[in-house]
Amino acid sequence: MRSREQLLSHLRSVSPVIAPSMLKCDFGNLHREFERLGAAGTEVVHLDVMDGHFVPNLSYGPMVIERMRQHSGAIFDAHLMISDPGRYLDEYVRVGCEAITIHLEAVPEPLGILRAIRERGLLAGLAVNPATGWAPAAPFVGEMDLFLVMSVQPGFGGQKFIPGVISTIREARLSAGAGLLISVDGGIGKSTIADCARAGCDLFVAGSSVFDEPCYSAAMAELRRLAMEARAAV
Ligand code: DX5
Ligand code: ZN
Repeated sequence: MRSREQLLSHLRSVSPVIAPSMLKCDFGNLHREFERLGAAGTEVVHLDVMDGHFVPNLSYGPMVIERMRQHSGAIFDAHLMISDPGRYLDEYVRVGCEAITIHLEAVPEPLGILRAIRERGLLAGLAVNPATGWAPAAPFVGEMDLFLVMSVQPGFGGQKFIPGVISTIREARLSAGAGLLISVDGGIGKSTIADCARAGCDLFVAGSSVFDEPCYSAAMAELRRLAMEARAAV
């Protein structure tokens, strides 16, 4: 297993990163999907875990991730859209996740859980819904490795990007400095990625804009190119 430091330095070296969201994959053929993602040079796989309680949809959990893990050497990032995430951390560690992202809105106090994630040697992520913004997350800046900005209401793939979250990304970057990895999730595609990159985003979760395309490799390369161009123009 890679250490937190190794994971962080690797992610920084390959940024901007396109992280395919498996919510949009063909669950009937996971083996083939991972072959295609591997061939596309996927560095991070984004795993949307939903409990039908914190969000109005149900997806998959550790049992499925454990099987996915056998098909991929990429960094597995579990985006836990579940209530009481602290209760389940060890399950996600056991099945080979290397980053765990919890929602600020799902817990009364994220500090203990963020620390518990890091103590297990994983990257600790904190996610916020579009309306939450940066301010409530700011006190945890030293306690997280990854800040995930939701750019749709969590729960479903294929929704429209909410442009108001650009200011959350910008504020987080200004306030946290270069050290924090910032990620955006929801409605990311050719027409939205550049604005997020300019605002300071490193990691771009992409569901529809990868899995609805005929060639994952071409789709991911094009998204990455647009992010790099936008960043270079700042
Ligand atoms: C939404 C999930 C996203 C979503 C992304 O709750 O967190 O990861 O699947 O899918 P697209 O890119 O289609 O919005
Ligand atoms: Zn997600």
